Amino acid sequence: MMHFHYSHSHLLCEEVPIAALAEQVATPFYLYSRRTYRENYAQIDQAFGAHPHRICYALKANSNLDLLRDFAAMGAGADVVSVGELKLALRAGIPAHTIVFAGVGKRDDEIIAGLQAGIRSFNVESEAELAVIDDLARQRGESARVALRVNPNIDIHGHPYISTGRSADKFGIELQRTRELLREIHAMKNVKLVGLHSHIGSLITELAPYTEVGKIMAALAQEALALGHELDYVDVGGGLGVIYQNALAVQADTAPVEGLALSPRAVAAQLLPPLADLKCDLIFEPGRALVATSGVLITRVLYVKHSGGKRFVVVDASMTDLIRPSLYNAHHQIVPVHFKNTESEKCEIVGPVCESGDFLAKDRELERVQRGDLLAVMTAGAYGYSLSSNYNARPRPAEVIVEGKDYRISRPRQEVERVWE
Ligand code: LLP
Repeated sequence: MMHFHYSHSHLLCEEVPIAALAEQVATPFYLYSRRTYRENYAQIDQAFGAHPHRICYALKANSNLDLLRDFAAMGAGADVVSVGELKLALRAGIPAHTIVFAGVGKRDDEIIAGLQAGIRSFNVESEAELAVIDDLARQRGESARVALRVNPNIDIHGHPYISTGRSADKFGIELQRTRELLREIHAMKNVKLVGLHSHIGSLITELAPYTEVGKIMAALAQEALALGHELDYVDVGGGLGVIYQNALAVQADTAPVEGLALSPRAVAAQLLPPLADLKCDLIFEPGRALVATSGVLITRVLYVKHSGGKRFVVVDASMTDLIRPSLYNAHHQIVPVHFKNTESEKCEIVGPVCESGDFLAKDRELERVQRGDLLAVMTAGAYGYSLSSNYNARPRPAEVIVEGKDYRISRPRQEVERVWE
């Protein structure tokens, strides 16, 4: 459930009126509903029922430390892709033995950091990486736990930038080559195969790709077992999509709405049957589905101007705060924090950055707004702050977490002097 709703035309995050909050915190800022992300976690975790499993949260979606501590307390493991994420996960209290380390370009020092920490396993993306891990483990006189990331050549029919499971994508090892490696890896003295991994892409809105992944991973796991490998886990990646279009109805009073594109139970029902007999853990690595619906970006209208027959609403948030519209042409619903029910008109909602690609929405119907009005960019809890930048020497925005009637500033806005440090 996404705990943002209108009451008497005012947008609330849980029980906190956002306009009142914006009197205390300078815009733009990210606002997270703790209840939403905790409920998302519980719902996804429960979907896998009694089957031995671990939710390894993909930190890249949102690595706010308070949020990570909450997931740690709920039993989450982590999917990390850099030494920075590894350290963050450990700092948040996520146990090393629940952390898996993916990424096509792990540096030596990152591999050594993973070995030193005693992570659950490296999700290995190439033969070349496997050889380096074997060598580094040998130099340290130890054996490294590894899982092979297979590229199963599945198309999720999504944006090409976030599809990762087609053979022409840079991720993972081709299926046939993975099969061969299951045999060859026996000869490598300093790696132990403990798992199989696959992540076919992000923002998945159909069940079929999960059905396919379940079958392919189950067949591969059976082959591994037949070759004498003892599998600790099969990791099916993340990818569960959320609803961006019309995430919230804009009217005087509304109730919180469901925000996921697929029911976690339906996804689990695709994955579990083929994997049920394997007697190893299932790892699911959601990022977006846990956090996207829990966050909004609050911004203030600076100017309204007309040019070339267009109406530009210039706001104080930009592509440096939320790059998804600029990078993927992604749609985020944008709603007034105080709904006045005035006439709506088409506009371009743009930021102050000196790029024509700096927009939050194009050709968008929005009720008539004026300088000082507040807008909420919905479904911004994933790949929002974590993809922010200091371009144009703009400080990163604050992050505020709401729970019930209370809020706290989890991370203040970056000081302007820190921008160039
Ligand atoms: N596991 C691995 C190995 C991944 O690479 C990713 C995401 C995930 C799990 C989590 O995927 P999710 O459940 O969040 O879909 N910046 C893009 C999304 C990039 C996703 C990269 N990998 C966006 O804003 O849409």
